[in-house]
Formats: sequence, structure tokens, C-alpha cells
Amino acid sequence: MFHHQDTLQRLNENIPLGEKLSSVHEAIKAQFPFIDRIAVAIYDAKTDTLKTYVHSSGGDSPLQHYQAAMADAPSLQEIVKLRKPRVVNDLNIFANGSQKHSQSIQKQGYASSYTLPMFLNDEFFGFVFFNSMQKEVFDGSTLHYFDIIGHLISLLIINEQSSVRTLLATVKTAHDMTHHRDSETGAHIDRMSRYSRLIALHIADRHNLDDEYIENVFLFSPLHDIGKIAIGDNILQKKGKLTEEEIEIMRTHANKGGEIIDSMLKDHGLDTFENINILRNIAEYHHEAVNGTGYPRGLQGEEIPLEARIVAVADVFDALTSKRPYKEAWSNHDAYAMLQRLAGGQLDKECVDALIANKEEVEKIQREFAEDPLG
Ligand code: C2E
Ligand code: SIN
Ligand code: SIN
Ligand code: FE
Ligand code: FE
Repeated sequence: MFHHQDTLQRLNENIPLGEKLSSVHEAIKAQFPFIDRIAVAIYDAKTDTLKTYVHSSGGDSPLQHYQAAMADAPSLQEIVKLRKPRVVNDLNIFANGSQKHSQSIQKQGYASSYTLPMFLNDEFFGFVFFNSMQKEVFDGSTLHYFDIIGHLISLLIINEQSSVRTLLATVKTAHDMTHHRDSETGAHIDRMSRYSRLIALHIADRHNLDDEYIENVFLFSPLHDIGKIAIGDNILQKKGKLTEEEIEIMRTHANKGGEIIDSMLKDHGLDTFENINILRNIAEYHHEAVNGTGYPRGLQGEEIPLEARIVAVADVFDALTSKRPYKEAWSNHDAYAMLQRLAGGQLDKECVDALIANKEEVEKIQREFAEDPLG
């Protein structure tokens, strides 16, 4: 008898998905040293876009923060349509074509690739990419293993995403039960999450944000106001200005949000879920101000978690440009001017600048997720 060191032991730990993927990559390299990169991209059906999610490539990452319309990627579409993985044993075949993404992989020195589409209940949700610096590494004998490994990776991704989905579904149910009373619509949620993502992407390089973090900010930002569940209709739907006392009560939604998230996590056994701090920080700290005048804690500057500073800008911008029971919708022009006035005081200047630097994208989001005229 002897005790064997499990090469995938780190999968037992509560670590970010990216680190799990790296440990899978290491284990694979012991057997197949020619695998130089593994990457996962997730498909967003609502916008028909594919976005990078996690990768393992020893520092080099040709397609960090990459996002593309599936409509512009015919060869990837073909993979989804056929429901079969694609093997390219010499990426040179793309050298003169129009396949930008494969070209960027090739320029980075990768010579072959194996691309496995991921499905859950018959629904396509993304790709796993295996790349090698060597040509002709994928053949009948190795592909067999990459099929297996690829599916295991897809299960890791599903597990991660379904934890997030369970959580989002629970929160959404709770929200829906109380939400017909709030003016914040589904379109608000769609816009909010995409403004947040836009800001995170724009500041990613300076803050060393990886795609997993950005995806989590995207997923969790719509839950920032979950604490409003605890606020009564008389205040939430009040047509006019709030009194001092009502403002006090309204402000408890930030603390309540943190508490609600905590109790939901416990109920669903998700309290050890690694990325959950991002969610809790968003719910609790999205009304902190960088100059220390915010609530609930009066945190300052970088004491405020970055995800909360990002969401604060997205939230205020969407609140300004939307109709509320207590106010009319502002024009973008006026809203940008207000954000600029708030930058460095209530709002993080870098996050404000990031949103304003992407006006075209902002308008695209507004067109795509316009208010439903029927409410
Ligand atoms: P909300 O409507 O989602 O607004 C989110 C945040 O956007 C506000 O946080 C505030 O920072 C910003 N914001 C919204 N409208 C304006 C505006 O006209 N001017 C400026 N400068 N900023 C604006 P805040 O103030 O902490 O409010 C939190 C929540 O309290 C609001 O969420 C809303 O549900 C409620 N609320 C705030 N003021 C009033 C009010 O006068 N009447 C009513 N009925 N509710 C209010
Ligand atoms: C395409 O499918 O045409 C582009 C995707 C890729 O470069 O692999
Ligand atoms: C990727 O590797 O992230 C996408 C490019 C491809 O292999 O088609
Ligand atoms: Fe709020
Ligand atoms: Fe909001």
C-alpha cells in the first residue's frame, strides 16, 4: 500500500477558476508537454458575443479581454453547427485569411489548436481551446485524451457557472417577488451589467484585472440593489423627494444587501464560493464615495473595493438616464456632465473616465436594451 500524491489536488480547494484551470494544465503537461495553452471562452446568447473567460498559458495571453460577435466568426460557428471539435494541426492555414482570432493565436507562436464546443442540455455555451507551439500534435491517439480533458474542463466551468446561476436565480426570484413595486426594470439590469463590464474592461490593464474578475463584475452588478427588498413601498415608490428620515431608511438598503447575500449563500451552501466577495462588496459598498462621504461605512478611495467603485458609476449613470418615480430621465449629455462633476468626490474618477471614453459603446448598450414601453 502507498499514498499517492493526487496531481489535481488543488481542485479540492476553494480557489478561483483560473487557478483550477492552471493546475489542470500542469497535470496535462506532465503527460503532454506540448500543450502550451488552454483557454475557455463563454458565449453570451443575448448579444451573440463570445468572450474570453479563463486561460492558462504561463503568462502569455494573446486573447485577454477579447470579445467578438459570433456572427463575425464563421469557422467557430461551423464548430457549433456541426457540434464537433475542430483540429488545426498547422495554424499557418489562417495566415492569409480573414480569421483574426486564429491569426492572433498564430502570431503568438502557436502552431496547432484543438477547439471543443461546450454544451449544456444541448445548448451551446462556449469553447475550450488547446494550443501548442508545435505543429501536428493532435492525432487519433492524443485527441482521445483531449476529448476527455476538454469535457472535464467544461464540467468545471458548468459547476462554476451553475453556482453563480443558482445564486442569480434565487436573487432574481426574491427580487421579482418584490420588484413590481420598484421602477428598476429588466432593461436596467441588462444595461447596468454591461456598463459595469465596459468600465472594468477599460481599466483592466492598469489594475491587472483578469477576464474571470470582469465576468463576475458583469454577473453580479445587477444585484447591487438587492437590499431594496427590505424597503417599504411608501418609500421606494414615493413620487417626490424623500424626507431626512426616509433617506435614513432608504440608506439601510446597502447593509441589508450584504446581509441578504450572506444568508442566501448559507441557504445554498455557496458560502465558500470564492468569488462571492465580489458580490457582497457590490451589494454593500456601491454607495460609498471616494471622498469618504458615502454610506454605509464612509470608506475612502481605495478602501472601497474596486468592484463597488465600478458599479457605483454604472448605477448613477443609469439612474440619471432613466425615468424614476421621483425624477425624469436625463440626456446622456447632461448625465456625462454630472458624472464628471462627481468624479473624485462621490465617484472614482478613473471609472468615470472609462465610461465616458466609451460613449459609442454606451449608446449601443442603450439601443440594445431600451426601456420596454409597456414597462
Ligand atoms: P436609484 O434611483 O437607483 O439611484 C441610485 C443613485 O444614483 C443615487 O443613490 C444617486 O447617487 C444617483 N442619482 C439618482 N438620481 C440622481 C439625481 O437626480 N441627481 C444626482 N446627483 N444623483 C442621482 P442615492 O442618492 O443614495 O439613492 C439611493 C436610492 O434611494 C435611489 O436609487 C432611489 O431608489 C432612492 N432615492 C433617492 N432619492 C430619492 C428621492 O428623492 N425620492 C425617492 N422616491 N427615492 C429616492
Ligand atoms: C472565424 O471563425 O472565421 C474566425 C474565428 C477564428 O479566427 O478562429
Ligand atoms: C482562442 O484561442 O481564444 C480563440 C482563437 C481560436 O483558436 O480560434
Ligand atoms: Fe443602491
Ligand atoms: Fe440601481
